[in-house]
Amino acid sequence: MKNIHPITDSIISREERELRLGQRGKVLWFTGLSGSGKSTLAIALERQLFDQGYSVIILDGDNIRTGINNNLTFSPDDRIENIRRIAEVAKLFLANGIICIVSFISPTRDMRANAKQIIGPSDFVEVFIDTPIEVCEARDVKGLYKKARAGEIKDFTGVNAPYEIPLQPDVHVHTEDTDIEESMAVLYQQILPRIRV
Ligand code: ADX
Repeated sequence: MKNIHPITDSIISREERELRLGQRGKVLWFTGLSGSGKSTLAIALERQLFDQGYSVIILDGDNIRTGINNNLTFSPDDRIENIRRIAEVAKLFLANGIICIVSFISPTRDMRANAKQIIGPSDFVEVFIDTPIEVCEARDVKGLYKKARAGEIKDFTGVNAPYEIPLQPDVHVHTEDTDIEESMAVLYQQILPRIRV
């Protein structure tokens, strides 16, 4: 880009901010199918961390798509742009020492790799909320799978658009045979060492 001169460093460093907050900033990148439990676990984790004094925020697909990303569809290109913008937003929170829980389907390995590159590999924690499509579809909390099967929604992830499972997620949460408390315990145990000073 021409004639742009970004100021990358503010006077107050990330380290100084983290020292005040008593935590290490991280981006916890939740990926998984619609209905896999991403939002539920993100909300539960946010509450637990907040109650323990951590500064934490959630960026969630369903919310962000009604605001900053309300001009984007679910076409492959728009999903790439959706994820790129969210990675940039998450990076801003990270620079402030905040723990940022990002909850988006982010269906392809390429787009997650791009997010990791934008954020920085050491600050990006890929959390795979692993719930088989059959289970998501049986839950069908929002009634979207039914609509997708009926042909009322095109490009629906898992039905007529792809989801590529993470090959080496940093944290792997199976929700099929475990309740929220058990999944939360796994999540918390894996996350805590990464954010504790
Ligand atoms: S992503 O693929 O671009 O990462 P994102 O997480 O923002 O998706 O949005 C997913 C949410 O949008 C789903 O949980 C669902 O509620 C809704 N949705 C609406 N249409 C679709 C679709 N075609 N595919 C997937 N999710 C959809």
